[in-house]
Amino acid sequence: MSDRNVQGNAPFVRVSGVTMKFSGVTALNALDWDILPGEVHCLIGENGCGKSTTIKVLSGVNQPEPGAVIEIDGQRREHLTPHLSKQLGIQVIYQDLSLFPNLSVAENISIEEALGSYASVISRPRMRERAAATMARLGVNLPLDALVGDLPIATRQLVAICRGMAADARLLFMDEPTASLTRSEVNALLEVVRRLQADGVAVVFVSHKLDEVVEIADRVTVLRDGNKLGTYPAEGLNDKRLAELMTGLDIEHHVHARDCTQAMPVLQVRALTRQGQYRHLSLEVRQGEVVGLVGLLGAGRTELALSLFGMNPPDSGEVLLQGRPMLARTNRQAIDAGIAYVSEDRLSLGLNMRQSVQDNMVLAVLNRISAWAGWLTPERRETMARAWRNTLNIKIPSLTAPVSQLSGGNAQRVVLAKWLATKPKLLILDSPTVGVDIGNKQGIYEIVHDLARQGVAVLMISDEVPEVYYTCDRVLHMRDGEIIESFVPGVASEAQIMESVYA
Ligand SMILES: Nc1ncnc2c1ncn2[C@@H]1O[C@H](COP(=O)(O)OP(=O)(O)OP(=O)(O)O)[C@@H](O)[C@H]1O
Ligand SMILES: [Mg+2]
Repeated sequence: MSDRNVQGNAPFVRVSGVTMKFSGVTALNALDWDILPGEVHCLIGENGCGKSTTIKVLSGVNQPEPGAVIEIDGQRREHLTPHLSKQLGIQVIYQDLSLFPNLSVAENISIEEALGSYASVISRPRMRERAAATMARLGVNLPLDALVGDLPIATRQLVAICRGMAADARLLFMDEPTASLTRSEVNALLEVVRRLQADGVAVVFVSHKLDEVVEIADRVTVLRDGNKLGTYPAEGLNDKRLAELMTGLDIEHHVHARDCTQAMPVLQVRALTRQGQYRHLSLEVRQGEVVGLVGLLGAGRTELALSLFGMNPPDSGEVLLQGRPMLARTNRQAIDAGIAYVSEDRLSLGLNMRQSVQDNMVLAVLNRISAWAGWLTPERRETMARAWRNTLNIKIPSLTAPVSQLSGGNAQRVVLAKWLATKPKLLILDSPTVGVDIGNKQGIYEIVHDLARQGVAVLMISDEVPEVYYTCDRVLHMRDGEIIESFVPGVASEAQIMESVYA
């Protein structure tokens, strides 16, 4: 936690009576809020409570209902546009980063400035220079000439921050910046945030990782269902208390590990190897068993998952599904064999943002059995989608609305619904609760347990030790392409697994 004294400063942003409605549905209700210069302010709350909407109002993307008062740097602003908001020093890093994958790092960082300068020729050396200066200021080192599309997500994150800072920001909104980062990448990011803070830049941070919130925030604002519950000094708060404030519930965790050694193996992996990614992997997941796969970035977990799903052929070794050799060569083959894969990179792989929630949910089923296309009448499609919405507690007024109107965490649950609809034998979940709020994480764990009880074998990849500890029957630790340890939660303690993974 920062010990900066941020009291006594005039707020950089002050809003009152901000109400935002989407076709009659209230996303934000009469919000009164302020942001102080140089503070780190965390905005938390359950999926769909209005966090991203708040950011969009202050960045001029969404126009609130009449009567809202917005003051920036002491001056009242009647009509905020994205352009004006930027001019006033407000920058946003969105949940999806909004970078240009086909441009270089340097171009991404300085593009706005270059475009804003009205120069007829955009000078490349000047762009590189500008990008390098911003990087130096933030203490980061990025490959200036690499294409952003080729970079890992953590690096793209830093590119987005540099872009925000190239334009002399005074307030930086970060909407779930750490969602797909590993612990050491998060630490690097927090280091950058502290540098910004030292420069007097205010940072508003949206995150579902409450331990991080406690660590970095000066103040925390909690939203519940579009209403502000309160703003609290972070000192004296812990993650358990924050979870209570967000949900109104006292969430208790229990170890679930059961002994599944008598059940039939669904997945058997034997000596699977892919050069440069993983070596001699052997593991089993039995019927009704939930096996966790933890490790740091680069351990090869996602590469293994992609291989099982037919998208990353191994060099040698064997995969059996229900006792029969089944090495999928395409993801279609994998789906047909009964394997479902909820990918880590949901924003780009998981959903078609323009299509409706309902169509996204039934998409995987349609792909699986094209003969169903005729059988799956609009009515049946809707019934199916409605059932999934209820099971997964997806907050959306209409199933025919495009996915782009859903909050991040709710979109996440649509991806899950899509795969559950295929009734898989083996379900591979890659970081399934990234971006999902604490209350609904619990909901996803319950669904996983339900599926396991129905006999589905689940392989769950996660960066969060507590998550696998409380959800899985066994936990495998993977490092540098090898499985190096196996734990039974309850027999091994959470601290032991933590130590092994983060040592
Ligand atoms: N363009 C839109 N059209 C219709 N409804 C919208 C639109 N954008 C947001 N909403 C609705 O407004 C509510 C608040 O959404 P918002 O994205 O602010 O949630 P959030 O707090 O950021 O959630 P998450 O943690 O899941 O990202 C949700 O019910 C969402 O479906
Ligand atoms: Mg959001």
